[in-house]
Amino acid sequence: MTTLPTRTLGTLRSSALGYGAMVLSPGMYGAVDDARGLAALRAALDGGATLIDTSDGYGPDGHNERLVGEAIRGRRDEVLVATKFGFRIPEGAAAHRFPVSYTFGELAVNAEPRHVRRYAEQSLRNLGTDVIDLYYPHFPDPQVPIEETVGAVADLVTAGLVRHLGLSNVTAEQVRRAHAVHPVAAVQTQWSLWQPIEPELHAAARAAGAGIVAWSPLGGGFLTGTVDRVDPDDFRRNLPRFDPANLRANIDRYAPLRAVAADLGLTPGQLALAWLLHQDQHVVPIPGSRTPAHIAENLSTARVRLHPDSLARIEAARAAFAPRGEGALLV
Ligand SMILES: NC(=O)c1ccc[n+]([C@@H]2O[C@H](COP(=O)([O-])OP(=O)(O)OC[C@H]3O[C@@H](n4cnc5c(N)ncnc54)[C@H](OP(=O)(O)O)[C@@H]3O)[C@@H](O)[C@H]2O)c1
Repeated sequence: MTTLPTRTLGTLRSSALGYGAMVLSPGMYGAVDDARGLAALRAALDGGATLIDTSDGYGPDGHNERLVGEAIRGRRDEVLVATKFGFRIPEGAAAHRFPVSYTFGELAVNAEPRHVRRYAEQSLRNLGTDVIDLYYPHFPDPQVPIEETVGAVADLVTAGLVRHLGLSNVTAEQVRRAHAVHPVAAVQTQWSLWQPIEPELHAAARAAGAGIVAWSPLGGGFLTGTVDRVDPDDFRRNLPRFDPANLRANIDRYAPLRAVAADLGLTPGQLALAWLLHQDQHVVPIPGSRTPAHIAENLSTARVRLHPDSLARIEAARAAFAPRGEGALLV
């Protein structure tokens, strides 16, 4: 068991990097089965990751949460379990659609307050625990004021089923409105070398005392410099930057940052995570991986110190890096 440096997300204390479990469900980023998934989760826990991120929407019928539940059995006290709700719309309830940049064009959620307790109870069963440490609406419901959704999460805090409120894929304005109802511990948003955080969102999270949980901190694997193709059945085919023509262009455009990484004796993925960790004392990246060696490599960046000159070189190369294809999920 390794111990990593820690960071705070609101009043929660997490390892400086967490672990994102989404890649462990079938149909995401390449082949995986539950034995491999469990080994990956155990490698993350043994490597010192104390924040495990999942969702009731990853994989069929709570698959990802059930896998996380199996991995944490007997070691629940070591872990902060973070999960999300809204995609598993109850039978007969309305699907509230909103546009996204992925090629399938839209997603649908239902985050009406009357469903929230049922979502949480199902997640608790899937996870095999009696409390969720950090609970997020996965996406704001376009038809429900955020105050109403987070009010229902606040009720779960009062009932002892949830410890902390998180927000995912929200705007600055939604952070402010939600925080007026209940303290926000963490704002989960996409943030990486190829997808900047929106400055107003960052400022709103800081003002609320919330940390940032950075999703896809490795750009879905691209920023490791190891992805030169994605299979047609890989979920990333839906992301414009992984479209084969864009991917080819992006590999070329990323070359200067890969060169900086090599100069600094880091892999490109380590550079991407270390850069992120240096942007804010309260950012916790949650890279995902099916591979124990990759997990160890990612967690090792918790101890990387970048000299200001190195940060300036990275920043110059980052500013000149113009990826081809839409990168933001919400349009
Ligand atoms: N809130 C939201 O809407 C939202 C959206 C997306 C993601 N998320 C969360 O963020 C987490 C992470 O995002 P993500 O999985 O999209 O992307 P990511 O962490 O940026 O990248 C994951 C990919 O990188 C590869 N990888 C990881 N470490 C590597 C290494 N050291 N060397 C080479 N390849 C490496 C993995 O492949 P291998 O398996 O081969 O290592 C995997 O394909 C998810 O698990 C999920 O919890 C949240």
